Amino acid sequence: MMLKSKVLKVLEENKGKTVSGAEIAKTLNLSRTSIWKAINSLRDDGYNINAVTNRGYSLADNTDLISKEGISLYLNKEFSNIDIYTYKTTSSTNEVAKKLALTGAKHGTVVISEEQTAGKGRMGRTFYSPANTGIYMSIVLRPNLTAMDSVLITTSSSVAICDAIHKVTGIECQIKWINDIYINNKKVGGILTEASTNFESGTIDYLILGIGINFNNPKDNFPDDLKEIADSLYKGNSNGINRNILCAEILNNILSIIPKIKDYNFISEYKKRSIILNQEIMYTSGGIYSKGRAIDINNDGSLVIKHDDGSIKILNSGEISIRRLS
Ligand code: BTN
Repeated sequence: MMLKSKVLKVLEENKGKTVSGAEIAKTLNLSRTSIWKAINSLRDDGYNINAVTNRGYSLADNTDLISKEGISLYLNKEFSNIDIYTYKTTSSTNEVAKKLALTGAKHGTVVISEEQTAGKGRMGRTFYSPANTGIYMSIVLRPNLTAMDSVLITTSSSVAICDAIHKVTGIECQIKWINDIYINNKKVGGILTEASTNFESGTIDYLILGIGINFNNPKDNFPDDLKEIADSLYKGNSNGINRNILCAEILNNILSIIPKIKDYNFISEYKKRSIILNQEIMYTSGGIYSKGRAIDINNDGSLVIKHDDGSIKILNSGEISIRRLS
């Protein structure tokens, strides 16, 4: 482990508290000068570290920078040795994760960036990924599932994310089929899964689970086309709740749910959080707009829609929008 990383680990473990330079030097078996150098380098990275004369250093509570050290602190023991790669900026964490998967990255390998210059959304869209305000994270998964089952990763992850957000922030989110995370009718997060299948066995070789969450973006910072439809968990002040804790909790939940995915226990929670169940909706299928009532979500994630004439449509994927109540 690099010296800087070791010092950051100690500071994150004692966040908000003062640790003496001598103590850090002793714990890490390093000179006080090298500690001081590491502290300065962390400050250059944007860490808000206070130095109190004769007492030591403290990492300010309001520091919210994503790091492996900060995330690891909150991971369940069983996941504490997953590989975590962090970037200040990258094109798309899904792309980086894909490359890692191709060179043998393990199940649970995580790629996180403070910013994405080419964040990808579903259906070929872009995902707005400004620096330091969001969570842009991709997880390499190697589940023991068939390609047919990959949608279960999407639906169960939506539930895992909502549960994590609730546990960490107290905020209740809703899910818009199939995998958008909403608060008060505005989108705060999305999921993009990209799977590579073994054609002979039909099983998933690897699956990249990309998660984007608007964490702390003052509303006015959204571009015009997103202002009315997107929102953020916090707007400028997150009361000391930081992205490392939320990333870790999301990882804990997702990595725990995957081995149990075929129990389908998460579906009831998915339905509870669904924004469209029992609502009149518009949907497109094969380029044609239709309207109906969303009456159920099946275990396989498909949506059951009942039209006014009583006919039923099962929708497996695609776009839907909630019909405005006049
Ligand atoms: C959507 O809302 O359409 C899905 C958005 C998914 C965004 C995440 S951010 C991390 C990962 N990297 C990407 O390029 N996209 C996903």
